[in-house]
Amino acid sequence: MKIGIIGAGNIGGNLTRRLTALGHEVSVANSRGPQTLTELARETGATPVTVGEAARGAAVVVVTVPLKSVPDLPAGVLDGAAEGVAVIDTGNYYPQRDGRIAAIEDDGLTESRWTERQLGHAVTKAFNGTYAQDILDRHRPEGAADRIALPVAGDDEAAKRTVRALIGELGFDTVDAGGIDDSWRQQPGSPVYGLRADADGVAKALAEASPERPEDFRA
Ligand SMILES: NC(=O)c1ccc[n+]([C@@H]2O[C@H](COP(=O)([O-])OP(=O)(O)OC[C@H]3O[C@@H](n4cnc5c(N)ncnc54)[C@H](OP(=O)(O)O)[C@@H]3O)[C@@H](O)[C@H]2O)c1
Repeated sequence: MKIGIIGAGNIGGNLTRRLTALGHEVSVANSRGPQTLTELARETGATPVTVGEAARGAAVVVVTVPLKSVPDLPAGVLDGAAEGVAVIDTGNYYPQRDGRIAAIEDDGLTESRWTERQLGHAVTKAFNGTYAQDILDRHRPEGAADRIALPVAGDDEAAKRTVRALIGELGFDTVDAGGIDDSWRQQPGSPVYGLRADADGVAKALAEASPERPEDFRA
């Protein structure tokens, strides 16, 4: 599958490593330009590209930059993606890093709804509570006793199916965490955030979440 990855840090780098290992055709971009990604390209076989080129022809695009950087992505960054592209949003709002975002803090937008509005495209929320290192270390074959599950939220059911299938290929179970308006259940500070558990454990943690934004994640 053709996959574009925007952001080549902890999460973007490790998704590049695993998705190329699975045989996917990965294009990867960062803020400094493709000339700074030659080492990752040599290691993985991914194609380093500019941000504007990352989505070209892609069936899946992963947006994995700090939340504060999402509005800096070029307008039309998803233009040229394949019809029906699934856009994965791994982002979290950390006011200490991202500055105060009133639409999230005051208006109660979920972090992914805010991101959708910046991108002008529906997103599927996944990996936001997953330790980057777990992408490399914790994948397991289907049915393994210690395979962990990730929550996945989104309004576009077809995109969500695509993302869940891809996460399954990456070696994790998934739990349908509802739509983007429900995705506060997996935001920072929620019981499922950073949880390593099977599908039942993830479903239970999602059910126990409170919509109140935790003090630690407020500006
Ligand atoms: N780290 C984790 O374990 C983890 C887990 C789950 C979710 N998350 C969330 O996932 C998101 C990414 O986290 P991360 O830890 O992978 O971040 P990171 O290591 O800081 O990497 C961020 C990447 O985004 C790129 N970037 C920044 N601004 C950009 C722009 N305007 N255009 C293109 N690329 C840009 C950076 O490019 P340069 O390299 O050129 O600076 C870098 O490659 C965050 O919202 C984070 O909260 C992180």
